[in-house]
Amino acid sequence: MTTPEPKPGGNAGMSSEYLEIRGLSVSFDGFKAVSDVDLTVLQGDLRFLIGPNGAGKTTLIDAITGLVPATGSAQKTGVELLGKKVHQIARLGIGRTFQTASVFEQLSVLQNLDIAAGAGRSARTMLRRRKSVLPAIEEVLEITGLGDLRDKPAGVLAHGQKQWLEIGMLLVQNASVLLLDEPVAGMSAEEREETGNLLRRIGGARIVVVVEHDMDFMRAFASSVTVLAGGKVLSEGTVEQVQADPKVQQVYLGTAAAIGTALADPATVKESV
Ligand SMILES: Nc1ncnc2c1ncn2[C@@H]1O[C@H](COP(=O)(O)OP(=O)(O)OP(=O)(O)O)[C@@H](O)[C@H]1O
Ligand SMILES: [Mg+2]
Repeated sequence: MTTPEPKPGGNAGMSSEYLEIRGLSVSFDGFKAVSDVDLTVLQGDLRFLIGPNGAGKTTLIDAITGLVPATGSAQKTGVELLGKKVHQIARLGIGRTFQTASVFEQLSVLQNLDIAAGAGRSARTMLRRRKSVLPAIEEVLEITGLGDLRDKPAGVLAHGQKQWLEIGMLLVQNASVLLLDEPVAGMSAEEREETGNLLRRIGGARIVVVVEHDMDFMRAFASSVTVLAGGKVLSEGTVEQVQADPKVQQVYLGTAAAIGTALADPATVKESV
């Protein structure tokens, strides 16, 4: 282990980055999709953000990444994000994925990573063909397990592999905050397991927020959980604490007995709300 460099803004020797959201609200034509949300996520935490359809999970990520206007505050290690433009926020190390994968299907895995790594470089440099693979890209190919597929067009990748490529694209951009919107939706059990392990591998040095409906996946990999409902934070804590919270049980199915089933079966959760 190397000793971390002191960071501007404090935390010398602690190497701790954090995402701190305070009183964040988003309104669409007077409808409050996100309402006065407080959320703190520390480096190394693997935070799951759960909640019924329409709870405001995606809108919260959209607000943090500058896609929708919001009031309140969202800071990364003391740096305010709200009010900045999408590309400025991305350059501050905030990366996100979307509910549907957005890789360049005709380009190879390597080209996708190269483009991501080049975000911020001039068009001229971008167009110049690289003779060798950047060490950062080699590292990401290794960590995502996509090394053998580097020359395959992204379009032929399996669903899970596309999600890993998207996560890889955030890693080569040096994103230190990863906001992942339903990364395991549509994945096989094996792909989910591999995704969880990938998130563990990359999560230690980063701030990771995973929006998910898959409760088995959450139970297996979450280090902490925040539950959103109706745009507000309903509950927060460990998986056990959140599952035992009567308010959470109520919002999912209405009875304590039913929550066991709902939280065990993501399909039930999605349909029941
Ligand atoms: N651009 C928009 N204009 C108007 N209303 C919107 C807009 N985007 C989202 N909403 C509304 O805001 C609320 C929160 O939506 P959001 O997509 O954030 O929920 P979610 O928790 O991500 O749900 P899901 O689990 O289904 O993805 C919903 O009522 C939705 O209809
Ligand atoms: Mg959503």
